[in-house]
Amino acid sequence: MIMRIIENIQEMQRWGEAKRCSGRRIVLVPTMGFLHEGHLSLVRAGRKRGDDLVVSIFVNPTQFAPGEDYASYPSDLERDCRLLEKEGVDVLFHPPAEEIYPKGYQTHVEVERLRSFLCGAFRPGHFRGVATVVAKLFNIVRPHVAIFGAKDYQQLQIIRRMVVDLNFEVDIVGHPLVREQDGLAMSSRNVYLGQDERRAALSLHRSLVTAQSIVRAGERRRERIIEGVRGELDKEPLVQVEYVQLCDPETLEEVKRVEGESLLALAVRLGKARLIDNTILRP
Ligand code: PAJ
Repeated sequence: MIMRIIENIQEMQRWGEAKRCSGRRIVLVPTMGFLHEGHLSLVRAGRKRGDDLVVSIFVNPTQFAPGEDYASYPSDLERDCRLLEKEGVDVLFHPPAEEIYPKGYQTHVEVERLRSFLCGAFRPGHFRGVATVVAKLFNIVRPHVAIFGAKDYQQLQIIRRMVVDLNFEVDIVGHPLVREQDGLAMSSRNVYLGQDERRAALSLHRSLVTAQSIVRAGERRRERIIEGVRGELDKEPLVQVEYVQLCDPETLEEVKRVEGESLLALAVRLGKARLIDNTILRP
């Protein structure tokens, strides 16, 4: 089967309408392209959850703050197409920015509380841009199911909340974080890392593993766990910590102790890259 490439919103909507009318179950995997195994594992999970699989590639300008990497965000559309075709994707939706945000555009979606924590505190407007574009993609593709990775844990929770709050009829499926063999969380932005930085980046996963063993040894206190994580990160002078947080995995509110499942999330700057990682801690 040849993958269809659609760049136009109306054409995408007509395609979805026809599929829905014939009783087909549509799955959407939204991405910004420059695909890696993390993306592809979402695509494979998507394949199993419906009849027609749509992947979107759209580098969404509204989720980049001024000074972030919008203009230099990596891309290789030809390679992405080849990879998606091999995975049996039915449609690649790849609209130009003017199609999604035409002149006069002024409506945005804000998931107010969830977006204020973690990355939201360091990336003004980021989650407003994410929620807005995902809401638009849902209206354009009208999928029955959409798949998001736990790599971007806060994003996943924000989308879940938005879908409940705005009554979208779409099942949100969270997919586990995919790592390189050496533990680094896969990310399109890993290409920004030089050799030394790539090596230093391993401290992120190491610090999460350290946290796991601290908790396994019986420690429950937030300060002690975060101290352990930071200790590991601080061993790498190239790594500049933005935040390390322990929070409730649903509300993202900070927790003082690991009593139930807790989310340990962190963000660092490393050379030109900003990297995030997370894990769930269980007592
Ligand atoms: P992007 O960073 O391209 O990621 C697309 C999807 O792939 C997201 O759901 C993300 O969580 C998932 N993903 C990325 N790396 C992953 C990994 N290592 N393991 C598991 N899943 C991973 O996230 C975005 O694009 C955008 O914000 C988007 C949702 C498309 C809205 O513009």
